[in-house]
Amino acid sequence: MEFFLDTADVDEIREIAQWGILDGVTTNPSLIKKSGRDFKTVVSEIANICAGPISAEVTSMNTEGMVKEALALKNELPENVIIKVPCTPEGLAATKQLSERGISTNVTLIFSASQALLAAKAGATYVSPFIGRIDDTGADGLQLIAEIMTTWEQYPSIKTKVLAASIRHPTHVLSCMQLGAHTVTMPTKIFRQLISHPLTDKGIKAFLKDWEEVEKAGHA
Ligand code: G3P
Repeated sequence: MEFFLDTADVDEIREIAQWGILDGVTTNPSLIKKSGRDFKTVVSEIANICAGPISAEVTSMNTEGMVKEALALKNELPENVIIKVPCTPEGLAATKQLSERGISTNVTLIFSASQALLAAKAGATYVSPFIGRIDDTGADGLQLIAEIMTTWEQYPSIKTKVLAASIRHPTHVLSCMQLGAHTVTMPTKIFRQLISHPLTDKGIKAFLKDWEEVEKAGHA
């Protein structure tokens, strides 16, 4: 079970990393744009905050370009940076070449179990089904996670981890984990929602108030 953050905001990553349960971070070109910062600088900073795998995405659309970008990123960035590749025929070929060189990959923009299966066959370290974007079309994104996990069960030799992405709410996280997804990547807001409960806050307040009375009575 792995919990990743889906953001390129280093302040947020620092905050969640302090909780001691952050396993990795995923970025993509849109998240880098949102950060307003230089791609390699921000990924490098993230990789120094969180020891787990940090996904950095290539933007070439041909295999040669993807591999070239991947090698440059591996050369320039910290060891824990892994390469995010789009789920296209060219991306599969790049994934295969990178996996043969021992470079970890995250095959992204997966919307079907067959895409996930082909990416696994190419040697992907992670496959990223985008469940929220499937929900947005009126279909059921969690159904895709269930389908992928059922397929994986038939082939115990598959080592590729299923990384549920495009998470929209805390229930998505719990459901993905209950379906057996290895990893979930989520925005910071959802990480915060997962830990927060009004009854926990209310309970703490009451305990602290009562403890004040205990102290006042000199019984602490
Ligand atoms: O890591 C990319 C994925 O999580 C995208 O999420 O919210 O843009 O669909 P979203």
